[in-house]
Amino acid sequence: MSKRRRKLSVKKTVRNVLVVIIITVLLLNMNNIVNVFRSKITGYDIDTIEVFNELNIYNDVKKYEHSDTLERIVKTEYYNGKYLNEYVNIEFHDDGTFLSNINSLLGMGYKASEINTIYDKLSLDGINSVLDNDYYNDIVNVLNLKYFNRDNIDRYLILSTKNKELSYEDLVTYVNIGLDKEYYTDVVNVSKKDDILVIVNKYHFLGKDYVPSDLVAIDKKYNRGNNNLLRKEAKEAFEKMCKAALDDKITIYSGSAYRSYSYQQNLYNRYVASDGFKKAETFSARAGYSEHQTGLATDILNSKLDYISASDKEYDWLINNSYKFGFILRYPKDKEEITGYMYEEWHFRYVGVDVADEVYKSKLTYDEYVARNF
Ligand code: DAL
Ligand code: ZN
Repeated sequence: MSKRRRKLSVKKTVRNVLVVIIITVLLLNMNNIVNVFRSKITGYDIDTIEVFNELNIYNDVKKYEHSDTLERIVKTEYYNGKYLNEYVNIEFHDDGTFLSNINSLLGMGYKASEINTIYDKLSLDGINSVLDNDYYNDIVNVLNLKYFNRDNIDRYLILSTKNKELSYEDLVTYVNIGLDKEYYTDVVNVSKKDDILVIVNKYHFLGKDYVPSDLVAIDKKYNRGNNNLLRKEAKEAFEKMCKAALDDKITIYSGSAYRSYSYQQNLYNRYVASDGFKKAETFSARAGYSEHQTGLATDILNSKLDYISASDKEYDWLINNSYKFGFILRYPKDKEEITGYMYEEWHFRYVGVDVADEVYKSKLTYDEYVARNF
């Protein structure tokens, strides 16, 4: 062999060896190279890609947008393959209990969209309440109601398991009123006692000493009772209403308007003595809990000086017209469970024209109206 030919052969051998080395190195690093590509495509780091490979889920994962939640949970004991398409839709929250909580919520039956709303609307305490109760299929509807109150989440969930018939709107309304609790327990001391829209019921206490500062006597023409005082605004509206009624040939009078705490106390005690405690509770407020103490309510008499009843033409007139003067029927028929009182055809409450109009049109009791608006 010539010198030249030997040189060429050595060159060739060296080249072949190099090619073999390069191919071997490439082959040995193939996995890494693939992972780098996978990482670039999906936005997950190499470690996470390796976990996806181990779990054999890369091909599923790549169908979805990058998910911080999946990235975190896939490396923990909480990861469960059957929830992959939920994880990718759950917004990540950087708190210590998030992964374990979503694991539990998914286990209870909540979907990603529901979990996102739960995290959006509730504090960690609220989320714990959700975890402590059964799955509630209206949870998103409840959380999105404008009158949903975060503080009540536990009570909404408890009532949802006790009363499955209630619509979610009623459920939230009932809890906001307090109806999931016994009357006169866990009472709120009314703070804005002079507010024309004040709510006074078996959950709202006016106090022993409250006397409105602007009580005035109703014109004698329109009064036939001993308790003839109303707050100025209510008195003026009441007189206007009586006058309008007269124009329509309807005669009405105030029969019992403002009642002081002590007057109500005596009245209630007398009713308990005559009718028994249970019965009295259905038509008489305990002292401090009567709307009559606000100076915004009156029991209305018909032309014969009897308390109005549903068969009276005066009643029809009042039902169709009182809201125009700012008055509402406070204890309507078939709403006894909500108001806590029997149907009182005669008891009207002043709330101002705008709210009276809304209450009238909504067909809600004032208790429900307040529970949905404040
Ligand atoms: N009769 C109403 C409920 C009251 O006693 O105030
Ligand atoms: Zn009354």
